[in-house]
Amino acid sequence: MPQLSHRVSRFTDSVIRRMTRISDAHGAINLSQGFPDFDPPKPLMDALAKVAYQGPHQYAVTYGAPNLCQALARKHGRAIGRQIDPDTQVVVTCGGTEAMMSAVMTVCDPGDKVVVFSPFYENYGADAILSGAEPIYVPLKPPAFDFDRQELEDAFRQHPKAMILCNPSNPTGKVFTREELTFIGELACRYDVFVITDEVYEHIVFDPYQHIPMAGLPGLFDRVITCSSLSKTYSITGWRLGYLIGPAQVMEGAKKVHDFLTVGAPAPLQEAACVGVNFGEDYYKELKALYTRKRDFFCDGLEKIGLDCNRPQGSYFVLVDISRFLALEQFKGWSDLAFCEWMIGHIGVAAVPGSSFFKEDVNHLIRLHFARSEETLAEALRRLEKLAALLKD
Ligand SMILES: Cc1ncc(COP(=O)(O)O)c(C=O)c1O
Repeated sequence: MPQLSHRVSRFTDSVIRRMTRISDAHGAINLSQGFPDFDPPKPLMDALAKVAYQGPHQYAVTYGAPNLCQALARKHGRAIGRQIDPDTQVVVTCGGTEAMMSAVMTVCDPGDKVVVFSPFYENYGADAILSGAEPIYVPLKPPAFDFDRQELEDAFRQHPKAMILCNPSNPTGKVFTREELTFIGELACRYDVFVITDEVYEHIVFDPYQHIPMAGLPGLFDRVITCSSLSKTYSITGWRLGYLIGPAQVMEGAKKVHDFLTVGAPAPLQEAACVGVNFGEDYYKELKALYTRKRDFFCDGLEKIGLDCNRPQGSYFVLVDISRFLALEQFKGWSDLAFCEWMIGHIGVAAVPGSSFFKEDVNHLIRLHFARSEETLAEALRRLEKLAALLKD
């Protein structure tokens, strides 16, 4: 048989999605891959039911159904205080995943460098490899996941083409401050670099933290490619809807990449999702309140049973420190992956090994998410109590 491409040998399948498959096989509570176990808002489901009979069922406009592009342009325009042209500055994609891939392919040639904070959402490694780009990693340092400004500037001095910025950050839960974003923006201007932002958790941000869209900072719109998604904001991860917004010249390139990657996002789902994108501010306030309750319930619960975890500023992920377990005789020399696999079988809760997010050699963190009903989170905490009890033996 002829050889497969060199590029596919350079990355593995997604560890996050692999943990879901193992979790399903064991009937565990899946707190690994981040998606809700509750319904999307009723108006979206009603719209979907209507679309089933009224259509559209054929290809949408490749770059996005006009009504969805208009709704996204209005929503993002409000967020960044600038008029967005729905025809030239918006591209609807198959999820934030395709938005990120299209953005990297649009601006990077093989051999180009891309600055990425570590830890990072695991797709970025594959995005870079598939487009031939080479990541330059800059650490976000625990526990606050701050970055060293000098280290970041050193990375920019290596002539990268782009920086990828996940804000709010998966897996750290960090929400970048205005000062941090301004500093990154200044570097991007000084070194003439694009910033590709992944803002899929833009509406899951906890008080007093605030999501600041990078494209809205003074003088940055022309070099920021905003990638976001409807997956998390409207609890529709299976609908596979995301988008890119940026300057028309860049979107022109992105439209070509998107066209030949997927032709377009699903037409009936774009039509139904439009209802959500047109929601007023109340919806986003309720979403924030919902996830604030879940975060507090879950993090309080983890702390109460004696597990060490961070409290995210945004997103729905928690990093739990497993150092004390790895020091026990039973787990001596284990990897975080082996620990997560053991947890699925013996505790009945699935997590993601932290090493899949870090460039550095980090083996002591696992990621759990709390996009679950309170009953499910309570049951997960009951099971995790069995795990915590090992520390008391
Ligand atoms: C940071 C981040 N970006 C992108 C995605 C993918 O989003 P989508 O479902 O829209 O492809 C996820 C999903 O977990 C994510 O956490």
